[in-house]
Amino acid sequence: MISIAIMGHGVVGSGVSEIITTHKNKLFTALGEEIDIKYILDLRDFPDHPLADRFTKDFETIVNDVDIRVVAEVMGGVHPSYEYVKRCLEAGKSVVTSNKELVAAHGAELLAIAKENNANFLFEASVGGGIPIIRPMDQCLVANNVDEVAGILNGTTNYILTKMINDGMQFEDALKLAQELGYAERNPAADIEGHDACRKICILASLAFGKHVYPQYVHTEGITAITLEDVKYAEKWGGVIKLIGQVKLLENKKLDIFVAPMFVPNKSQLSDIDDVFNGIMVRGDCTGDVVFYGRGAGKLPTASAVVADIVDCCKHLKARKRIFWTDGGEDLVIPYDESVTAMYLRLKSKDEHCAYDIAKEVFDGNVEPLVLEEAQESEIAVITNPMPYGMIKNKISDLEAKDVCVLSALRIGDL
Ligand code: HSE
Repeated sequence: MISIAIMGHGVVGSGVSEIITTHKNKLFTALGEEIDIKYILDLRDFPDHPLADRFTKDFETIVNDVDIRVVAEVMGGVHPSYEYVKRCLEAGKSVVTSNKELVAAHGAELLAIAKENNANFLFEASVGGGIPIIRPMDQCLVANNVDEVAGILNGTTNYILTKMINDGMQFEDALKLAQELGYAERNPAADIEGHDACRKICILASLAFGKHVYPQYVHTEGITAITLEDVKYAEKWGGVIKLIGQVKLLENKKLDIFVAPMFVPNKSQLSDIDDVFNGIMVRGDCTGDVVFYGRGAGKLPTASAVVADIVDCCKHLKARKRIFWTDGGEDLVIPYDESVTAMYLRLKSKDEHCAYDIAKEVFDGNVEPLVLEEAQESEIAVITNPMPYGMIKNKISDLEAKDVCVLSALRIGDL
């Protein structure tokens, strides 16, 4: 029997204890030993819970108990998760977590502490919920040089965009629905402003390229400015708007990494990924594109990934698994102004021909018109040639100096 502790009894934590209880025989077959939940850490009381006698409010009980070999951190947030995880690793206990904020902020340091203490630090559930992505990238794709990872990494925003695209729903109404269905957080800023997706692409980039990429260096846009007009222009262009986290390894070994809503062409495998589903494309030099798809959020999908990590840690109590990356600096990531992209620009001027003529002049002829029959007379959209984002910004200023209002500006995805 292997004794474990679960820190946190929220949505994911309760799913972890539920799976360990309901899938006891399945897990015994996989491991050859029983997993015993010795402690569940939570500040609240759960007197009617079947494991009521395992609850504790005292972290010290867990960290000081030599029987506990594996700890699952499912509290969320950086504090006190960071301090607790660090102390468990220093005590030689393996730790698994679903906490993307923690891994994105402190992954390199915690992996180093795990290594020093011959313990494991695993975080399959931190990206893509129930989708296997960390272990496949770390193990199954190890023979590849990966040069790009791109994905729909946030279920809430994908649900909102799907409602806007398929049902013509306004952003605010779709957000309200997502909140009612329990997809979005009560304060949904981390989802709709792109921070959750940013943490996840940082974790995938760190894993793919071996250096920690910190969220504060990554350009991050959310979906709050997307309108139904933009959705219609995307359809006319031959695609859909998706919130994409993307990282590319450049020839100079630096990373072009960002989170942004973009036009995704219908031919891309990511264009059909709807509702709360996530999809992640990994481009390997041997495999070509590999796409992972499934439920990126929710109690049991996420808990299943946490339990798989617990089993893996239990199987590797003596031999450490070699999942590792080192610290990365600010100069690992190129400034967003250098990121090359074509753009969709929605323009408004005195009349549509005037806006298009001025756009042609500003972009030296390198724009194509995108016309929507039902658009207002003064409005037109254009698709630019690919160029560094800094140059696009200057040209947007030039347009505005010539009385052309830029209503929307979105990347054209090269996916
Ligand atoms: N809020 C997140 C999402 C939960 O919507 O994807 C899973 O990380």
